[in-house]
Amino acid sequence: MNIIFLGAPGAGKGTQAEIVSEKFAIPTVSTGNIIRAALKNGTEMGLKAKSYIDAGLLVPDDVVIGIIRERLAEDDCKNGFILDGFPRTIPQAEALEEMGVVIDKVVDIDVADEAIVARLSGRRVCKSCGSSYHIDYKKPAVDGVCDVCGGELIQRADDAPETVLNRLHVYHEQTEPLKSYYASKEKLVTVKGQEKVADTTALTLRALEEQA
Ligand code: AP5
Repeated sequence: MNIIFLGAPGAGKGTQAEIVSEKFAIPTVSTGNIIRAALKNGTEMGLKAKSYIDAGLLVPDDVVIGIIRERLAEDDCKNGFILDGFPRTIPQAEALEEMGVVIDKVVDIDVADEAIVARLSGRRVCKSCGSSYHIDYKKPAVDGVCDVCGGELIQRADDAPETVLNRLHVYHEQTEPLKSYYASKEKLVTVKGQEKVADTTALTLRALEEQA
């Protein structure tokens, strides 16, 4: 099954993608994670992307389309995959089609802007392995320490409140039109983001299973 998770920054795409990936035994491809890894490793692409990410803007289409083209050609994507954070613009969705990629379902996780700001201000990520936590909703066993690798938990630079507002603005302007794009292709299912992660997961799995 090839699945796209759509939704505003902080809607819970990454959290749900991780859970569904495990359940369906298919990989998650997150453009945000790939770009952050490139940034950490100081590659040319990472350096090019830095100014956009820091400002809460989208990285240019040609860069992310290139990332996806390479990643989806890898062996582990042959039996299905989850796209988390791609496509984010209509040209990115069109590029996916031009690559011959057939998408089975697009899950839009719908969360109000006010809740997004609270979620992102409380998110903490592991400096070493990138695992994601929340100070209220997904606490690590030991405060400030990653459950997976023992690394230090920090706040993502683009989770600063003013950058979050910018990311939301960019989302409404450039990414939200993808909802009608995929609705017109009868691929879109909407999941109302719930207060608890497990409740959102139950709705997500039901939406995917109904359509499978
Ligand atoms: P990216 O990393 O994709 O960021 P994003 O879309 O802004 O998404 P987030 O990772 O912030 O949120 P999420 O929806 O995954 O939420 P999460 O599950 O973590 O991209 C970063 C940047 O890279 C972009 O701004 C852009 O510059 C660039 N980029 C990436 N892809 C691109 C593309 N295709 N084109 C151009 N540029 C691109 O949840 C958030 C928090 O809430 C967590 O702490 C979590 O624990 C908590 N939470 C989750 N679910 C719940 C729940 N149900 N209840 C309570 N809390 C919850």
